[in-house]
Amino acid sequence: HRLLVEELPDAEVLVVSNREPYIHNRTEDGISLQTPASGLVSALEPVMRATGGTWIAHGSGSADRDTVDRDDKVAVPPADPTYMLRRVWLSDEEQDGYYYGFANEGLWPLCHIAFVRPAFREEDWRQYKRVNERFADAVVQEADRDDPIVLVQDYHFALLPRMIRQRLPRATVITFWHIPWPNAETISICPWREEIIDGLLGSTILGFHTRFHCNNFLEAADRFMESRIDREHASVTLAGHETMVRAYPISIEWPPAALAHQPPVDECREAVKRRFGLPAQARIAVGVERFDYTKGILDRLHAVDDLLIRHPEWKGRFVYLQAASPTRSKLGAYSALQAETVRLAEEVNARHGSADYTPIVLSIRHHEPTEVFEIFRAADICIVSSLHDGMNLVAKEFVAARDDNQGVLILSGFAGASRELSEALIVNPYDTRSMGAMMDAALRMPAAEQRERMRLMRDLVQQRNVYRWAAQMLLDAARLRKRARILDAT
Ligand code: G6P
Repeated sequence: HRLLVEELPDAEVLVVSNREPYIHNRTEDGISLQTPASGLVSALEPVMRATGGTWIAHGSGSADRDTVDRDDKVAVPPADPTYMLRRVWLSDEEQDGYYYGFANEGLWPLCHIAFVRPAFREEDWRQYKRVNERFADAVVQEADRDDPIVLVQDYHFALLPRMIRQRLPRATVITFWHIPWPNAETISICPWREEIIDGLLGSTILGFHTRFHCNNFLEAADRFMESRIDREHASVTLAGHETMVRAYPISIEWPPAALAHQPPVDECREAVKRRFGLPAQARIAVGVERFDYTKGILDRLHAVDDLLIRHPEWKGRFVYLQAASPTRSKLGAYSALQAETVRLAEEVNARHGSADYTPIVLSIRHHEPTEVFEIFRAADICIVSSLHDGMNLVAKEFVAARDDNQGVLILSGFAGASRELSEALIVNPYDTRSMGAMMDAALRMPAAEQRERMRLMRDLVQQRNVYRWAAQMLLDAARLRKRARILDAT
C-alpha cells in the first residue's frame, strides 16, 4: 500500500482473473462462503487486501448474484472489506467454450508437459474471444481514469491485454501468466498462436515465474511475429509498442492468514489423525492439491506402493494422506483421473493394508485454507510431485506452516518452486523408484537436518513473499509510467 502511495500516487488498480477470491454458495442454512483452491487466488488476495482497488472475475457461486449490488459488486473480504469484487456473469455456452474448452482443454495441456493432447475447437475459440471482450468491457466500465493499472491474470485472458490497450491506450497493463510457457515448437501447434502472442503483446509488462519461460516466450514472438526482440533488455516491440518480458517468481503472504490461531503442531497431528482415521503411531506423508493430471498424483501413489514393497518395515507405521479438491470435473481427463486414483489407491491398500491399516487415505472434497494448514502441520512429509508446474504454492505454504522447523518437503524438479526451495528433497516424479527411496530417506531424516533445511526454506519464503512479487511488478510499472511522462513532455 505504501508503495502505491509513494511510487504510484495517482494509481487505480484493477485485477482481472477468471476465478474469484470469494465464492458465495447457497446451502440449506443460508449462504456459505468458500475460498477456492487456486494458487492464483491465494497469491493475489493478500495483495489486493493491502492495495485496495477492484477485482473483476467470473461470478461462479450459486449465491453470488444474491450478494452483489446493482453494479454487480460486493465489498470484500466479507469480514473486513478493503476492496471491491466485480462479478461478470457467463452463460453456459460461454463457460463451456471459454473456460472448459479453450482455456482448459486447449491452453492448459498445451502449456504443461503432461501428455494430454490439447483440443482446439473453433467454437471454443469463438467463446474465448467473446469472453475476453466481455472482460475488456468490464475493465473499461470499472476504470475511473484513462490510465489505470490493470493486472491481468493467467491463460484465460491472453487476448485481453491487446483489447485493453486498444480501448485505454494510456493504461499500464501488467499481465502475469501463472502457468508454464512452452517452447516455440510446442506453442506452434495452436492454430491461433499469432493471435495469442499478439494479444499478450498488448501488455506493458508480461510476467512469468521463471527466466526459462520468458525465454520461451521471446523465442515464440521471434518466430511467429513481425516483432523486434531485444534480448539484452528482455523486451518485444511490435508495431511501435514495447512489452517488457520479466520473471517474477510468485509467492505467498507472510505470515499466511491461515496460520493464525493454529494450535501447536502436536494438537494438529492428533486432530488430523482423528478426522481421517489414521493409526495413532503412524508417520504421515501428505499431498494437498486440486485433482489435476498435472500434479502427478498417480505417480505418487505408485511411489507409496514402491516404498512399501522395498521397505516393508514401514507397513503399519506409515500413511499417505491425499487431500484432493475436485476441479474441472466436467472434463474427461479430470473425471478419468479421479476414477483411476480411487482404483489405484484401493489396489495399493489391498496389497499392503489390513483390517486396521489403510496405507493410502483419500479425502476428495474441498478443503478450506485453515484445514489445509492444519494438515501441513500434522505431516512428517509433504510431497509435491507435479509433472510440470509454473510455480506451485503448496510447497511454499507447507514451509510457511512449519513454524516448528520440522517436516520434510519432497519437491518435483519440474515445479518452478524447485528453483527457489533447493533444500527440499528434489525428485523426478516420473521415476517412481527414486521417489519411493526419497520417502524412505525423508522418514529417516534426523530432526536436526530437518531443522536446518526448513529454516533456510522459511527464510527464503519469508523474504520473497507475495508482497515482494507484487511490489517488483508495480515498481517496474512505476518506472515505465514516469519514463512515459518524461517522453510525453519532451
Ligand atoms: C491454476 C491456474 C489458476 C486457477 C487455478 C484453479 O492455479 O493457474 O488460474 O484459478 O489453477 O483452477 P480453476 O480452474 O478451478 O480456477
